[in-house]
Parts: sequence; structure tokens; C-alpha cells
Amino acid sequence: MLCLYRLLLSLLLLLGLVSEKVLASVLAIDYGTEWIKASLMKPGVPFDVLLNKDSKRKIQASVGWKRNDRLFGSDALSIAARFPTDSFSSLKYLQGVPFESDITSYYTTISTADVVKTARGTAALQRSDGTEWSVEELIAMQFAYVKELAEAVAGEKVQDVIVTVPPFYTQFEKDAVVDAIEIAGLRTIALINDGTAAAVNYAMTRTFPTPEHHVVFDAGASSIRATVIAFATGASDLKTSTSKDSNQITVLGVGYDRLTGGTELNRRLRDILVADFQAKHKRDITGDKRGMAKLWKEAERVKTILSANAEASSTIESVAFDIDFRSKVTRAAFEEACSDLSQRFTAPIHEALARSGLTLNNVSSIIMTGGSSRVPMIQNAVKAAFGEDKLAWNVNADEATVLGAALHGASLSRQFKTKDIRVTDIGPFDVQISYLAEAKSQPAKPRTIHTSVFPANSKTGTRKTLTFKRKDDLSLKVEYKQTPFPGFPRELLEIDITGVSEAIANLTEMGAVEPVVKVTAALSESGFVSIPEAVAYGEIKDDSLTGKLKGLFGGGSASEQVPLNAEGSESADAFEQAGTASASSASATPSEKKAAPTGPQTIALTVKTRWPTLGPLSGSDKRKARDRLAEVEYEEKAKQRKEEARNMLESYLYRIRDLMEDTSNTESPFVKCSKNSERKAIEQKLRESFEWMHDKADEAETSQLVAKRTELEALERPIVHRYKEIEEFPRALNNSQMWNWSTRLFLTEAKQNLTAEEQGGAISKYLKEELDELETTLKDHESWLNVMVEKQKAVKMNEDPAVESSELRARAKKLEDHLHRLVRRKVPLRTKKTSSSAGTSETTSAMASSADGTPLPSDSGHDEL
Ligand SMILES: *[C@@H]1O[C@H](CO)[C@@H](O)[C@H](O)[C@H]1NC(C)=O
Ligand SMILES: *[C@@H]1O[C@H](CO)[C@@H](O)[C@H](O)[C@H]1NC(C)=O
Ligand SMILES: *[C@@H]1O[C@H](CO)[C@@H](O)[C@H](O)[C@H]1NC(C)=O
Ligand SMILES: *[C@@H]1O[C@H](CO)[C@@H](O)[C@H](O)[C@H]1NC(C)=O
Ligand SMILES: *[C@@H]1O[C@H](CO)[C@@H](O)[C@H](O)[C@H]1NC(C)=O
Repeated sequence: MLCLYRLLLSLLLLLGLVSEKVLASVLAIDYGTEWIKASLMKPGVPFDVLLNKDSKRKIQASVGWKRNDRLFGSDALSIAARFPTDSFSSLKYLQGVPFESDITSYYTTISTADVVKTARGTAALQRSDGTEWSVEELIAMQFAYVKELAEAVAGEKVQDVIVTVPPFYTQFEKDAVVDAIEIAGLRTIALINDGTAAAVNYAMTRTFPTPEHHVVFDAGASSIRATVIAFATGASDLKTSTSKDSNQITVLGVGYDRLTGGTELNRRLRDILVADFQAKHKRDITGDKRGMAKLWKEAERVKTILSANAEASSTIESVAFDIDFRSKVTRAAFEEACSDLSQRFTAPIHEALARSGLTLNNVSSIIMTGGSSRVPMIQNAVKAAFGEDKLAWNVNADEATVLGAALHGASLSRQFKTKDIRVTDIGPFDVQISYLAEAKSQPAKPRTIHTSVFPANSKTGTRKTLTFKRKDDLSLKVEYKQTPFPGFPRELLEIDITGVSEAIANLTEMGAVEPVVKVTAALSESGFVSIPEAVAYGEIKDDSLTGKLKGLFGGGSASEQVPLNAEGSESADAFEQAGTASASSASATPSEKKAAPTGPQTIALTVKTRWPTLGPLSGSDKRKARDRLAEVEYEEKAKQRKEEARNMLESYLYRIRDLMEDTSNTESPFVKCSKNSERKAIEQKLRESFEWMHDKADEAETSQLVAKRTELEALERPIVHRYKEIEEFPRALNNSQMWNWSTRLFLTEAKQNLTAEEQGGAISKYLKEELDELETTLKDHESWLNVMVEKQKAVKMNEDPAVESSELRARAKKLEDHLHRLVRRKVPLRTKKTSSSAGTSETTSAMASSADGTPLPSDSGHDEL
């Protein structure tokens, strides 16, 4: 018992330890179309944005290959013009998106990469060597890259991550984010909408004594999002346990345009350049990937120039077909090409306000965030539509989102004391459940019933219960009411609920009246819809007098189970069917009801979830992806090791060559300490090694590179050893002589004392036997030393030494130890019997102790204490 308890305790401790370690730091990633920003929350590490290897606060969201070298960040982006199908940027567009969708088509107009279809019907990118990488894998590589940066700062493994997503992300896209996180070896604590994250950042340093409404306007590279948010401090009206100074953030509505942002402006400019090129040179450049990549880069530059100048000139040498392209774009022409956009820049704000049931007057400010919020064209459109004084520039447009996400992640992990900020978000899409009505009459085709379960603007982090009057297994479909974006599927989940008939029969047996099936639907904090459970449910009447009295006073219980939604008409299936379903079970069997339960009873049903369209990656797909990434990383590490081995071999060969070239210098220790034959052997090996380096090193394994060095080192080592010994020997000899001398000095004095004490009848500190013993050790040492010194004198410099300095030192140490044993003694040993057998003399001394108070080694004290 005790043992088991201990085991349990230690197990718990172990778990505690593990989870503490795991929770110790939280990584936040704001994965954008153009930039990645990350932040690490770790106790003891200043809370800030994570810097990349070049100390930049943001990392280009790109990955690519320059032949076999994988590149990240700006390195990966900058190779696009040379390797247009090996540089992958703006991947956020394609995350979890069906291959046959407007977004994928759009992507092919902004990127030179080759997009192909995966077996799942999503997008993958094909490198010039033919290998395909799914979008999830490419994004996972970037997450893993960020993970490594974070781990370098944290000084430990980082696992937990919170990632920002646009509020319009469908479940398909969110699944893809979570899959990429997992493939990268990280664990999702939550996904947070980017506008909400910016609001958390906004609320970090503020209080709202009276509730305020703001719009977070987030203009990114790919899309524009607006989020209407209510801020309140204290929130005393809520029944939650919020403290007085906690901030409450409530999302009321969102609006968005998925394909309008900085990238679209770039695309328009690029198309002006394309048209100009076609007009001037009468050649179609659109099929030339390198040319298109160069024009894309140029458009980016021109866009920046036009934000401050009325016109911009371009010169691109050899853009395509060996043509040097010169062009001039005016701001007027650019604005003309974007004239339809200004309305699209501001529409998300109108939409968000409308969805939250507010007007501009209800809103204190429009908080401007996102990299593209600085683009004059976008800024001006917002100013024109909502008035300049509504615009607020009071958060860091680049970093508010990631810092807010980090704070939220930290508060979720409960590891940190952070400002208490409660977040209530919403799902922007209508989610409904569809199922077949139970056939009332024989052959008629059953009707499909749709029930709204989470209408648009439903709060996240909530559950709803649906009640079905069924006696048999049923299947449900969870789906978006409308197609969320052209080309996207509507269906999310297919749910099979089984075991119904048995469970209902059992409940009926137990006396339940009209048992039903209750299905729980959940909308998680991160906005995922799922069906976590289903039960058969029945109320068993209490037939006793008290039970009957209760019933009399209207204690009916079924009414507590509120139907799930406001639109009662749609959810009416349960009630529609009520008449037909239940008459049979009305009378319960009264006989064997001794201890029969009463009140509400539930029996769990089996719930199986399938993904009819785009689901999360399967376990085996994720494992495969992880293995692929691990292989790439392994190869990179191996390559790095090989590179190092090669460099080491190379510099070693040059060093030896320099030594060999110095052989004319007879003063060089290398020459003095080597034999002719040895130098010949080295020379031979060196020549071989250089040849091998030249011919074979490119294909060589790391182990071969190491072996080459080892072989040569084996030839050099004895020579090096000799001149080290030549330096070392005099020092070691001096050491030996010093102990020789000190021992002799000690013996002389101790013997004199002994004689004097014997004569005076005093107690001696040392026994005669002890001193004789030391004398023997000394003599042994001396004679050995004399022999060795003689031998060593005869050894030439280029011969191996007769005795190693290490042995000299070891022998001296023996003498030293022996001497010390006696010298350290403070108090005389009083002997009971003067045994002559040295080493076994019994003592009754006071506890001998050394100078520093620690007990002496046992061989000096023989203490019996
Ligand atoms: C919004 O403003 C209107 C009038 O401009 C007002 O009637 C309404 O109460 C306001 N709503 C909120 C939530 O402040
Ligand atoms: C129904 O009752 C039978 C008999 O008591 C039992 O074996 C079975 O497990 C029950 N089934 C469920 C689903 O509760
Ligand atoms: C031997 O050691 C002593 C003391 O450290 C030093 O004074 C003396 O110069 C040394 N002699 C040689 C030959 O190294
Ligand atoms: C050791 O000391 C003895 C006596 O002092 C001396 O005769 C002898 O030469 C010394 N031996 C060496 C190797 O220094
Ligand atoms: C010899 O005796 C003197 C005087 O008592 C003492 O200081 C010294 O340490 C003794 N020497 C040895 C080697 O015991």
C-alpha cells in the first residue's frame, strides 16, 4: 500500500515536473501573408518580439531552395527572380484552401510558383526538381524555423504555441493551421483572431471605466479585416468571477475582404508594367517566370516610391528575352488602375458595424493596424469614408497582433501573472446541422431537415444541446449554411450516432417516459465546431406519494432542456415527431421497481466523426509530413557536419604542409623531433591526402573526411609528443627533486627529534618504524630516478623519451603522499604496544584531524571512534 502510494506520488511529481517544464514558455506566432512575427513569453525573459538571426523584428514569410540549400526569410524571397519555382511566398493564401477555388486561381496570378493538387484536393507546391510540398509542410517548416529561434532565446525546448488567424478563416483553414503547428513539432494552445489579438494589446495598458466601442481595422498584405469590439473594465453585470479591474473584450462583429490588400496593389502595378512591356516590345512576358518574378519585385519597389512621389521610373536589365526594360509609372495611372478598390478597402468596416448592430456614432475610434494600414491609398480611403478624426494610431501597427496573442496565450497557460483580460469572440459563419427526418410513411423519400446550431455571430467557447425524438441510430451533417467562399465546400462533419435503439430500450425498461437523444454541439474558443458527445436521455417518474405531489405542483422537468436556438421553427423536428414516436413507452412496468432510479437518466451513445470534404490531416499523413521534415533537417545537419569535417581536414592539411615546407629550418621543433623516415611518411600521406581532397572529397562521407585527418594525425602525433616531452621533462624532474629534497629534510629533522625525545622520555610524534618506512620509499624513488635520468640523457631529440614525464610525476606523487601522511599529523600517537609490524599499530589517539578540520584519511588515524 505504502509502496503503491509512493509510486503514485512520484508519478504525480514527475507529471507535475513535466507539465511545469512544458508550460514554462509560450510562443506566439503572427503568421502573415508577407511577414511572420513571433513573441516568446517566458518567466525571466523580457516580453518582446522575437528577433531573427539578423536581429530583425519581422521575418519574411518565405521558404525556398537554392539548389539543395533550404532558405528562409528574405534569403528565400530574394532568390525568386533566379529560381522562380523554388521560392515560396504568400503561402497563407493557400492554407487549407481547395485547389479548385477562386483563391488558388488568384494565387497563380501573384506567384511564379507551380501550384499542384494534393490527393486531398488542397494545394501543394512543386519545386523545379519535381518534389512536391504541401502548403501545410511548407508552413510547418517556417513554424519550425521560428521554434528554433525561440528555443535559442528560451534556452529550452518550446512547445506551446498560439497562432493568429484572420476572423474569416473557415474550419478547413483552421485545421490546416493546427496541422502545420503539429508537423512543426509544436502544440496548439489556441488560435486567436488577429483583430481580437490587437484588441488585447490595446486593452493591456488601458482601463474602460465606461464601456467603449472601437473598430480594429487590420490591413494586411492579402486581406482587409475589421472587427467591432466592446471594451469594458470590471464588467459587474456579468455573473462571471471577473475581478474589479479585469478588462472584458467582446467581439461584436467582423467584416472582411479576402483578396484586397497590399498584395493586390502590387498585382495591379505589376500588370501596368506587364502591359507597358507588351506595348513596347510586342512580346508576351506573362509566360516567362523569371521575368514575371522580376516585375513583381519591381512593382513592390515602384509602389513604395509612388507613396511619396508622383512618378517612378524603372530599369530592369534583361527582364526577359534579353530585353532591358525601361518604364515610368505615374501615381495617377496607379490610382486609376486601383479606382475600384477604395470602396473595397472600407467595405469591411461597414460590414462589421452592420453585423454588430452599431453605427459609426457608437464607435470611439478606428484603430489602425497591419502593415498595409500605412499605404496612402488605403489610409485615404478610410479617412474619406469615416472622417480623419475617427482614425487612431495608438497601437504598433506591426506588432500589436503578435504581442496581444502572446499575452492571451500566456493567460490561457495560467503560468504567468498577467493583466486579467477576458476575451469573448464570435464565429462569423452560420453553422447548421442537417439530417433526414424519420420516414413517416412507407416509400416516400425522407425530407432533409436543417437546424441552425451556431448562427453567425455566435459566441465561441459555447455548447448547445439538440434534442431528437429518435429510437434508431442517426446521422447528422454539420455544415456552413452558405458557401463561405467561392470553391469552398459547405460540409464540415458527418456524425454517426449509434447505440440508440438499445439505449432507448434500456431507458424505457427503466421506466423513462418518452426518452430522447441529446446531442451536444460545441463551438470552441478557437472557433472549431465539433460534436463532442451524444446521450440517450429519459426522465423517470417518481411514483411515490412525494413524487406525485411534486408532479402536481408543476415540477415537470423536461422544460429545462431549452432548445438550442431562437429560430424554433427549424429545430422543431423533435417536437414534430413527438406525436408519432412515443406512445408505446408511456406505461412503465411497475412490478420490479424496488431501488429503481428516478429523475433524469442518461446513457452515453457512440459518436463517430467523419470529414466528408476537407478535414484535418489524418494521423498517418501528419506522421509522414513530420518524417519528411525531419529528414530534411537531418540531411541539413549531416551536411553541416560534413562541411565542418571538410574544413577541418583542409586546414589541417595546410598546417602540416607548412610544417613540412619548414624542414630547412633545423631549429623548428618539428624538424628537431622527427626522423627522416617519419617526415618521408608524412610527406607521402600528405600528397595522397591533397590528391584525395581534390578528386574525392566532394562525394566523400563525413566519416571518410574524419578518417583522412586521423591517419595523418597518427603520423604526426609521436613527433608532437616528443617536443612536448622535451619541454615537460625538466619541469617534471624538478618536481621529483623537490619532493626528494623535502622528504630528506623532514626525515633528518624527525629522526633528530626522535632521538632527543627518547633521551628525554617524552612522547614522540612519530614511530621509528614510520620514519624507516618513509626512508625506504625515498630511497626507492631516488634510485629509480637516478636510473631514469641516466637513460634519458642518452635519448636523442628525435627519439621517443626513455621515461614519460607523466610517470615521473606519478612516482613523485607517491612520495609526496607518503610524506604528507606524516607531516599532516598534529598530535602524537600514543601507542599501547610498540608493535613492530608497521601499519597495524593500534591507536587510542584523540581524533586526529588535518589542518582544515576534515578527518584524515583512515591510513593516518586508525581511529576507532
Ligand atoms: C448607438 O447609437 C445610437 C444613436 O446614435 C443609440 O441609440 C444607441 O443606443 C447606441 N448603441 C450603443 C450600444 O451604444
Ligand atoms: C442495456 O441493458 C443491458 C442489460 O442490462 C446491458 O447489458 C447493456 O449494457 C445496456 N446497454 C446500454 C447501452 O446501456
Ligand atoms: C625548479 O622549481 C623551483 C621552484 O619552483 C624553481 O625555483 C627552479 O627554478 C626550478 N628549476 C628548474 C630547472 O626548473
Ligand atoms: C635525491 O636526494 C639525494 C639526497 O639529498 C641526492 O643524493 C640525490 O642526488 C637526489 N636525487 C635526485 C634524482 O635528485
Ligand atoms: C622537531 O621538533 C621541533 C621542536 O619540537 C618541532 O618544531 C618540529 O616540527 C619537529 N620536526 C619534525 C619533523 O617533527
